[in-house]
Amino acid sequence: MTPSYQVVDGFRIAKAFSPDTFRKALSYKPRNDDLFIVTFPKCGTTWTQHIVINILKRGIPPETFKEFQRLSPFLDITGPGVVETMPRPGAIKTHLPFNLQPYSPQAKYIYVARNPFDCCVSFYHHTKEFPFYQFSDGTFDEYFDIFINGQTDYGDYFDHLLSWYEHREDPNVLFLVYEKMKADTQAAVLKIAKFLNQEYEHMFLKDENLMERIIRHTSVENMKKSTNEHFGSFFGLSPNDDQLKDPELPEGLKHILEFMKNIEFTPKPEIKIVRKGIVGDWKGHFSLPQSNRLMAKFRQKIQGTDIDKLWPE
Ligand code: A3P
Repeated sequence: MTPSYQVVDGFRIAKAFSPDTFRKALSYKPRNDDLFIVTFPKCGTTWTQHIVINILKRGIPPETFKEFQRLSPFLDITGPGVVETMPRPGAIKTHLPFNLQPYSPQAKYIYVARNPFDCCVSFYHHTKEFPFYQFSDGTFDEYFDIFINGQTDYGDYFDHLLSWYEHREDPNVLFLVYEKMKADTQAAVLKIAKFLNQEYEHMFLKDENLMERIIRHTSVENMKKSTNEHFGSFFGLSPNDDQLKDPELPEGLKHILEFMKNIEFTPKPEIKIVRKGIVGDWKGHFSLPQSNRLMAKFRQKIQGTDIDKLWPE
């Protein structure tokens, strides 16, 4: 069984996505004050989006999910229109490899990497969760083969990582690692604040509860509450006409809802974007031959680089 994908100009994305909107997204011209959060899917995007927004809002979380989406739109599916009119400062989410990413030396980019084992497991659950992939009965063994062959949506995990790793020292790129963010979240929050603007870094000196508030608002437990039901209400249920007629609904999201109207699925009120949020969940999913195969691919792909230093153990 294979999830519902499509290939647009040589790049694999979910079949539910609008190819037109995706092409327009790729041709977006970044503004000088743009900040992007870029990841291969399932590497900690939503967590980083919440941290950044909490910093930008000086420790106040987004009031509603709508506000969260306005401040941090997903360029690949909303297209450039939404990004051009978004409130600023905000943070634009993409999942693009460096060669496809709308790029300007003046814009800033936060890239988050996560170890391929946990990323594969998380992406497997994600693909089963979203009905538009039509993979709810898919097995981990089936998904593993697709992942290791670089045939999931957004292409090969390793090519994506390598494409951004080359730019890790660029002054407008902040290269983060999910496992390090987990090990010392406070340090990651400060690093992000400093990268955004030194004023944000200084904010922590003036407001001694700020760090505690941000860590609390962006914890797995709090984010589960603020995220999973909202994703469920939009992507887990059969779309209704009111949603489709909403004049504010971006073209690319309308395309996804139209796609969902034409498929059969069991409705689900929650989509677990925030699932476990731990390091090492792969150990409960991989067989020994699978972990050996992924490790061999990792070694082969990263030859000539020191990427293995990102995950020392
Ligand atoms: P798991 O599926 O391993 O639990 P993305 O936002 O890029 O889709 O990434 C989703 C992954 O990040 C999920 O991993 C999710 O649980 C994890 N995640 C979400 N919020 C988190 C948080 N506050 N802290 C740590 N991990 C988080």
